[in-house]
Amino acid sequence: MATQQRHVSLGLALLVVCSCLHVCVSADSRPHILLIFADDLGWGDVGFRDPDMVTPHIDRLAREGVNMGSSYMQQVCTPSRAAFLTGKYPFKMGLQHSVFSALRNNSMPTDVSILPEHLKELGYATHYVGKWHLGFCSKKMTPTYRGFDSFYGMYNGKGGYFDHLSKWKGYDMHEDKGKRPEDYTIAWKDQGVYSTNLFTDKTVQILREHDKTTPVFITLSYQAVHGPLEVPEHYVTNHCSHVTVDKKRKLHCAMTAAMDEGIGNVTSALDTLGYSDNLITLFVSDNGGPIKEGSSNWPLRGSKITLWEGGTRVVSILHSKKHLPDAPYQWDGLMHAIDWYPTLMKAAGYNQPITGIDGVDNWQPIVSQGASKRTEFVYNIDDVKKFSALRDGKYKLIANKAGSPDGWYYPPTGAPPKPETPRKYPQYMLFDLEGDPSEENDLSGNRDLEDTLTAMKDKLQAYKDQVIPTREAPKVASGKPKHHGGAWVSGWCDA
Ligand SMILES: *[C@@H]1O[C@H](CO)[C@@H](O)[C@H](O)[C@H]1NC(C)=O
Ligand SMILES: *[C@@H]1O[C@H](CO)[C@@H](O)[C@H](O)[C@H]1NC(C)=O
Repeated sequence: MATQQRHVSLGLALLVVCSCLHVCVSADSRPHILLIFADDLGWGDVGFRDPDMVTPHIDRLAREGVNMGSSYMQQVCTPSRAAFLTGKYPFKMGLQHSVFSALRNNSMPTDVSILPEHLKELGYATHYVGKWHLGFCSKKMTPTYRGFDSFYGMYNGKGGYFDHLSKWKGYDMHEDKGKRPEDYTIAWKDQGVYSTNLFTDKTVQILREHDKTTPVFITLSYQAVHGPLEVPEHYVTNHCSHVTVDKKRKLHCAMTAAMDEGIGNVTSALDTLGYSDNLITLFVSDNGGPIKEGSSNWPLRGSKITLWEGGTRVVSILHSKKHLPDAPYQWDGLMHAIDWYPTLMKAAGYNQPITGIDGVDNWQPIVSQGASKRTEFVYNIDDVKKFSALRDGKYKLIANKAGSPDGWYYPPTGAPPKPETPRKYPQYMLFDLEGDPSEENDLSGNRDLEDTLTAMKDKLQAYKDQVIPTREAPKVASGKPKHHGGAWVSGWCDA
């Protein structure tokens, strides 16, 4: 009888949860989720691909988790992060061409539901630490209006790692505790402290202060390892003195080592504080590495900003003691930035389809090492620079060009260099990425593949018909830091 009564009241309690949330998730199944973005980390910038790099903690995540071999992001930061959070292709939001620059009245669309907002509906606490770069001129564009309970970090895409000065020497380090005007503060006290330390410490602090009975979603979006190449000297001398190919690669190694140390600090806090038993960690780079900043995408071709594999196929690692029972393994199914929103929602226990997005939920295929539900995707359709690329199964179609730099850079010690390639390209190129992941042999002239080429051109055209032109957001001079006490602040483009 007593047991029966307990069941009845448990049933009632669940009903209450269901009716509040419009979904049924049992409270204790929801995992904590840690999303770590590395900025501009190349495919070959990790120790498990290039032994010159010193990344023991990232290597451990890869060794114990699911290391993804065909996970893609966009070619640059803003489109990538917007795709990730919205589950929509940037070319359907007018965001495909480039990153946001500081004075523009531009943002990720404010009228679409994004991942953290949806997780909040499931009862998650949500925090954002680090680089945002998705618009900030109106408060409605900032993280605390976009589903995050708190934000600590930088609004812009780049700046000094120590002085936190962005464009026009505007200070860009913020602590936003909520939505009220008084919740927005400028973190002047943190000037002079390396951002990798700041973002690591803030994440650990959130973990300490959070009540673990509520599931938490934290985005830790490191500024590292984006340029400028700035790093405390001891990371160079202690970890990267062996890197001698050039000064940039050495500094890049040191910045990556510092970020890796931060990841180690966060993972050990997760262990010590008891989060790890019900935790999913995703480590992912926002785009390929910029080879001009010492980054390596070896053996992939090209660089950040290009649609070559080196600009778009990224380091992606999922790690969970509880939710990936068969790990470790490598999973080579196709995954695109837009797929993470539905995939992480499913991992959080949400069982409804999500409408109005382009992404697919790949959680079960990943967990069971099955075939990806994604069989094709658009790398990008850039309506300004007029180039695009499409993936269909193992084939990749590049239309017009893929961008430059377009060679293969920074081979690990012992690997033979690949020759520079001609810069003149045919209108279409076709690569078989299973047989030729380094994109060395253009198959567009292969007679046997004529039908494939035609079918892919048609598919690409069908996507092109859906393009929303790149939004030309106006400059708003009143946003300049000189009008705001020398800082980049929010709230100067409200209608
Ligand atoms: C990691 O923690 C150690 C020990 O507290 C600290 O000295 C170091 O600066 C931290 N690293 C980062 C990147 O925050
Ligand atoms: C910024 O853009 C929004 C939406 O398009 C518009 O309502 C607002 O007036 C713009 N503000 C400025 C200062 O340009």
